[in-house]
Amino acid sequence: MQRAIYPGSFDPVTNGHLDIIERGCKLFDEIIIAILVHPEKQPFFTIDERREMLAEVLNDINRGTCVLRVDDFQGLLVNYAVAQEANAIVRGIRAISDYEYELQMALMNRRLEPSIETVFMMPAETYSYVSSRLVKEVFQLGGVLDGLVPKVVQKRMKEKVTKR
Ligand code: PNS
Repeated sequence: MQRAIYPGSFDPVTNGHLDIIERGCKLFDEIIIAILVHPEKQPFFTIDERREMLAEVLNDINRGTCVLRVDDFQGLLVNYAVAQEANAIVRGIRAISDYEYELQMALMNRRLEPSIETVFMMPAETYSYVSSRLVKEVFQLGGVLDGLVPKVVQKRMKEKVTKR
């Protein structure tokens, strides 16, 4: 039984994240998509909203027999991974610029908990420039997000600003 944690902020989930999850399903029996609860950060979406959107868009994932779960966590990722009896942490690497930070995190996590391996996965080239940060910036400046995030995320982003 190979269980992986796919951690992140997912604020919001992008098509790049979904591409990584779909690829991860070919390697793991179960993937827990774990949203970091970051008390100091001012997010666009609440944890509950992010959980809801993830749960909805995961329905469209080509997952084979892989079980997908959405959860949130606080504190050290490796502690959460051990508590979930996971073997691996999955992280997406889009470009070489991601690598330095990701390597640092992977090595620190390995030092903290040698039993958990970090697995780096590359998304499709189409998503190699897509990040939640840029998605929010483009949205706030009125740009089109078609193909970058799922339709439900676009809808929720629009609803969010009209409610403000
Ligand atoms: O989507 P993000 O914001 O790039 O995800 C970053 C995340 C959640 C993977 C990272 O910040 C994290 O693991 N935070 C938990 C705290 C922790 O374990 N810190 C030490 C990591 S070396």
